[in-house]
Amino acid sequence: MSKQFYITTAIDYVNGEPHLGHAYEKVITDVIARTHVALGEEVFYLTGLDEHGQKVEQAAKDAGMETQAYCDRLAASWQSFVKKLGLINRDFVRTTSPRHKDVVQAVLNRLNDKGEFYKKTYTGWYSAKEETFLTEKDRNEDGSFDSKWGTVTELEEDNYYFKLGEHQQWLIDHIESNPDFVQPTNRRNEVLGFLKNNKLEDLCSTRPQNRLSWGIPFPFDAEFVTYVWFDALTNYISIPAAHGDDTVRSALQLGASSGESLSLWPADVHVIGKDILKFHTVYWPIMLKAMGLPLPKTVLVHGWWQKDGEKMSKSTGNVVDPVAVIDEWGLDAFRYYVVRELGIGPDGNWTDESFSNRYSNELANGLGNLANRSLSMLGRYRDGIVPARHDELAEEAARFVGETVAHLKSHNLQAGLQSIWGLVRRANEYVDKTAPFKLAKDPTQSERLDEVLYNLTEVVRILGVLLWPFIPESAGRIFQQLQLEDSPDRLALAEWGGMKAGHQTGKPAPLFPRKDLAPRN
Ligand code: ME8
Ligand code: MG
Repeated sequence: MSKQFYITTAIDYVNGEPHLGHAYEKVITDVIARTHVALGEEVFYLTGLDEHGQKVEQAAKDAGMETQAYCDRLAASWQSFVKKLGLINRDFVRTTSPRHKDVVQAVLNRLNDKGEFYKKTYTGWYSAKEETFLTEKDRNEDGSFDSKWGTVTELEEDNYYFKLGEHQQWLIDHIESNPDFVQPTNRRNEVLGFLKNNKLEDLCSTRPQNRLSWGIPFPFDAEFVTYVWFDALTNYISIPAAHGDDTVRSALQLGASSGESLSLWPADVHVIGKDILKFHTVYWPIMLKAMGLPLPKTVLVHGWWQKDGEKMSKSTGNVVDPVAVIDEWGLDAFRYYVVRELGIGPDGNWTDESFSNRYSNELANGLGNLANRSLSMLGRYRDGIVPARHDELAEEAARFVGETVAHLKSHNLQAGLQSIWGLVRRANEYVDKTAPFKLAKDPTQSERLDEVLYNLTEVVRILGVLLWPFIPESAGRIFQQLQLEDSPDRLALAEWGGMKAGHQTGKPAPLFPRKDLAPRN
């Protein structure tokens, strides 16, 4: 079986309810996944939950629940969240599932056979809150540790270490010779800067059972559990292995699969937030190299959302609840806003005002109005029947299509929407300039009216195609109203001339009802 386009999100800690940041990451990943569906590829989109480690154990304790029961309860709500976002994910990983745990243990055994681990006693300053030992560099100028680390205590303990250090130069070379490996460029420079200015320490890959029991047992020493990041990163290959991926299964000597045999690894894109860059572009590549597996093609790093210019925080109530927004405004309005407002890279800022402005100006009055008046006029003046093909807007439409597709392919999703709205604006101007409502009153202009109506209807159809990766439900509604049998999920359909003369279109209905109109009763 030929390799599928394999794309992943970070897996979320199951220590609370999903928030805007999680929703954003899943939506941009979905837009890229759908783009590749629309390009005619087989796509495997993976998301899921990171259920081990101290944070989760602590959250369960705080909730007064047994840890696995706590994870199970939250997992159900995260899975319904994924449905709510309309994602096309093909699987949902939970790191407490046997299919994942088995692969983590296989990875550890394999690396141990290859001599990649050694045991060592370490004494140092430990932040329980961040589950990490601190170094001298983490100290403030006065020698204290920042409050972000919580309580810091001195600990002495034995652990297994994974040899990272010896691969430092190899990794620098890999990142330098593969410009697409870390995107965008400023994040690539950040990792390179880190690698060139620091000596890589070996990675502490275990936690003693007596300090942390909520983890995957270390297969060759029962006194330890696996460090949560070692466990979590492995999800990107454990799920391929579970689906019979031969590249992963043979590297880990798991034997051939008895069921499916999807070909997924290496991943095409890992989508992550900026805070977990080092795990994905330093630890993970070296782990893969040690296993004898190829590296992911791209790690795509997005920024963080704030609300009203401040960090989102539950304790102050400064949060955006994506589910509440979707319930009030609709899924596509939410998907549109987050992608349009924030390109992949910088940090973003949510304000309710900019959300409702974009909704009215761009969705309701821009796209919605264009689709609605185009179809209404076709209904009113031509009984909804498409006139003969006419190519007045063909060239311009092709240019906007080309731009949009190029932006989608290079993960510039925000720029993609800007190109699409270039076409929306052009078509709305065309309505104002050609004034079909005037043409309709003049019998000598009947042919001209046909031309204008064809161009408008065809642009609306093409918009349906271009919008599908971003706002699939609305794209589907556009195609429904046009009474087209195809689904808009193929970018090849964006070629001019798809509307056939004589085709009967359906009734228009507002795509994005205006919110400022009082309900009629
Ligand atoms: O880091 N804006 O899980 P997590 C944008 N389990 N993105 C945000 C955000 C915000 N305000 N807050 C968080 C973990 N994120 C690990 C990952 S992967 C093998 C293990 C993003 O629940 C964050 O950057 O803390 C990360 O990509 C994702 O949400 C999950 O964060
Ligand atoms: Mg986090």
